[in-house]
Amino acid sequence: MIRVGVNGYGTIGRRVADAVKKQKDMELVGVTAGHPHYKYAVASEKGIPLYALDMKSLEAFNKEGYVLRGTLNDLLQRVDVVVDGAPEDSGPANKAVYSQAGVKAVFQGGEEHELTGVSFVAQCNFDRAVKKQSVRVVSCNTTGLCRVIDAVDKGPGVSRARAVLARRATDPDDVKKGPIDAVVLDPTTVPSHHGPDVRTVLPGIEIVTMAFKVPTTHMHLHSVILSLKSKAGREDVVKALEAAPRLNLVDGKSGFKSTANIMDWAREKGRDRNDVYEATVWRDSVTVVDGDAYFFLGVHQEAIVVPENVDAIRALAGGYTREESMKLTDQSLGIAHR
Ligand SMILES: NC(=O)c1ccc[n+]([C@@H]2O[C@H](COP(=O)([O-])OP(=O)(O)OC[C@H]3O[C@@H](n4cnc5c(N)ncnc54)[C@H](OP(=O)(O)O)[C@@H]3O)[C@@H](O)[C@H]2O)c1
Repeated sequence: MIRVGVNGYGTIGRRVADAVKKQKDMELVGVTAGHPHYKYAVASEKGIPLYALDMKSLEAFNKEGYVLRGTLNDLLQRVDVVVDGAPEDSGPANKAVYSQAGVKAVFQGGEEHELTGVSFVAQCNFDRAVKKQSVRVVSCNTTGLCRVIDAVDKGPGVSRARAVLARRATDPDDVKKGPIDAVVLDPTTVPSHHGPDVRTVLPGIEIVTMAFKVPTTHMHLHSVILSLKSKAGREDVVKALEAAPRLNLVDGKSGFKSTANIMDWAREKGRDRNDVYEATVWRDSVTVVDGDAYFFLGVHQEAIVVPENVDAIRALAGGYTREESMKLTDQSLGIAHR
């Protein structure tokens, strides 16, 4: 069993903790708790052991009557791998703590590539993370882009990629940043950081991205244009996308007209928290004109990186091939395995 701790129990940390609980080769030893909040009461009800982020947190939780097992330092004594779900840019300080405890660490996309030197999307570069001390699972948008670019690159081949990202303004439980009543250029300059971030995983891909925020909390929507290396047609691109892991192809005629329908599909499937772990491609949007493939890509920001985190844990622990790990993860989360 790989013993896993989660430090930072927010949007990503909560989901990764539940996903780890579903793995037959992993034990969720505990999660850290910063400030008293109903999510920790629910975690306790689920039997998840809680550890305070620090002594101040411990005092605050004790006052509220919580039973905690110790602090982050105690958790680190009991795990093989820690998943860092802390707010972006906490990575450098947290990495020093993990290193001192001799614990391997999975970081998230809010950190810089240089923090670990390995940026991870399971289908693209699982092997690069095997037995490393730490790895960074890239952001939700970068994960979505890498999945589709890798899929088409392994089929017709990609000589250049471009994407325009309509980003959700914030997450559904965040009342501090949203809803917004505007389309916000994010940033006003071109390119956005997403293109360079894709290259930390797929260094051979030429890519330029632009991004803006829109008034929604559910999902990002990318308009993707891939210049193909070969004289492929629409069916070749569709075939490559259909054969790839962790992609769902949907059609407008079946009722998938918007991101709201993708979230509704997950609700109908009875997915935990309505999570869509797959990147969604609108099959009917796939069009090839003069050697360029065009399509729409949907990314559920809260969920898409969850399977990647589970695979990153196995990569760091060692002893699994990419195929073995992705299969275990997919089967446990209800993702159709390809
Ligand atoms: N949200 C997304 O859509 C998304 C998607 C992909 C990747 N990411 C990346 O995932 C990471 C986490 O983002 P998130 O949205 O999950 O954050 P979040 O919802 O704000 O949650 C952050 C959690 O970290 C805890 N925390 C605060 N300071 C900490 C510290 N110094 N060390 C450890 N834990 C700390 C907080 O505890 P308390 O609540 O108890 O204070 C909170 O539970 C970021 O790198 C982000 O860029 C986010």
